[in-house]
Amino acid sequence: MIDSGHTEPREPFVIQGPLFTLLNDNSVNTYDYFDSGSMVVGDQGRILYVGPSVPADYSHYRIKKTQHLIFPGFIDAHVHYPQLPVIASYGVSLLEWLDKYTFPEEAKYSQRLYAERRARQFLELILQRGVTSAAVFSTIHQEAFDALLGAASYSGFNLVSGVTGMNRGAPDDVLVDVGLFKEISSKAMESGLGVERFRYAITPRFALSCDEEMLDYCGQLLEINPHLLMQTHINETEDEVLATSNLFPRSTDYLDVYDAFGLLGDRSLFAHGIYTTESEYKRWAASGASVIHCPTSNTFLGSGLFNASEYVSRNINIGMGSDVGGGFSLNPFVTMSEAYKVARLGGKVLDPLQLVYWHTLGSAKAINQADVIGSLESGKWADFCLIDITSDDIGFEVWERSRSVQEKLFGLMFLLPDSSSRVVETYAGGISRWRDTSCLGSK
Ligand code: GUN
Ligand code: ZN
Repeated sequence: MIDSGHTEPREPFVIQGPLFTLLNDNSVNTYDYFDSGSMVVGDQGRILYVGPSVPADYSHYRIKKTQHLIFPGFIDAHVHYPQLPVIASYGVSLLEWLDKYTFPEEAKYSQRLYAERRARQFLELILQRGVTSAAVFSTIHQEAFDALLGAASYSGFNLVSGVTGMNRGAPDDVLVDVGLFKEISSKAMESGLGVERFRYAITPRFALSCDEEMLDYCGQLLEINPHLLMQTHINETEDEVLATSNLFPRSTDYLDVYDAFGLLGDRSLFAHGIYTTESEYKRWAASGASVIHCPTSNTFLGSGLFNASEYVSRNINIGMGSDVGGGFSLNPFVTMSEAYKVARLGGKVLDPLQLVYWHTLGSAKAINQADVIGSLESGKWADFCLIDITSDDIGFEVWERSRSVQEKLFGLMFLLPDSSSRVVETYAGGISRWRDTSCLGSK
């Protein structure tokens, strides 16, 4: 069950145990690892201190000792909460998958009770996997957005989301005309105001589902309000790229479509970016926009192999997303191991620290929040999970025998999803929001 922290006072505490975190210093491989570390969490849900021992100032705080690995909460920078029920849809590629499975499911989110049930389920499943922040696609419906916002704020989850913009290329029950979209978006932005740990993202689904008027309105919103983010899809499959160029014949390429409507900038998140061209890379790098790598979706739908080094070499920030339900798992360890495999198929070897970076600090940067989330450092939100590194024979053996922190993390990526080692508790804002009751008190 999800725990709401609303009624509990946030009692400050110290948590002590093995601790890993990357450090937010513009490099992907600086980290702290302590076999026995201490993290001090203050009464506002922020981290006051991380280090090898507890400073005297905090020695009177309650101490929680754990044998589990204390790890930064993961950030899923691209996921569709209404698509949980279409995970594992058989035998199709992107555009057919949207028509055959996804749009019919998304149409159901006009029903408030259905949306609320799915939103609660989504939050529970994602917290269970150690994810404490996400940039989430909803649907065109006000009910779907409200349900997600309600469930996230109840569970202290750090949410980025917005009403999905779509006014063509799909059945009527998942389309909205621009007039109504303006109305629903205004209400949604208003209801998000003052909600702690929520940030609104303008969400045109992708160029194929938005006409010029829709994209133009999205661009205006982004320009007027510097606090807003923008999330969409780009260059995911060859069919989609071709269809986009047919629909926007005046644009030089896919990125140009978004740029023409003011949607390319340092508050923009573009998922996929597999078929990006040389001129798009250049423009992308200059804009400060992030790409969100969604490897399980790309392999499952057969979309293609993301070429991370093209982005890394141009200093384009990379975040990571599950892209459920194109992706088949909400588990960050599955996403990271899939990214490793995708890179191997492209002849590259990825450092496990790089993979963890993309799923924590890189994703935090993508949503413009690297100052407050993405690592366990003083001043940031105490968003973390506890990973059981001792319960599984093989997992424990690999953890113990690994000589470096990189090897330990790499072992976790591949062994954790298929072992009894797992996330056993997740904290957001210093409050335990989900825990595996079967092993509580054991360690
Ligand atoms: N492009 C437009 N919509 C979607 C979606 O829901 N999932 C994925 N993977 N790509 C998209
Ligand atoms: Zn997506």
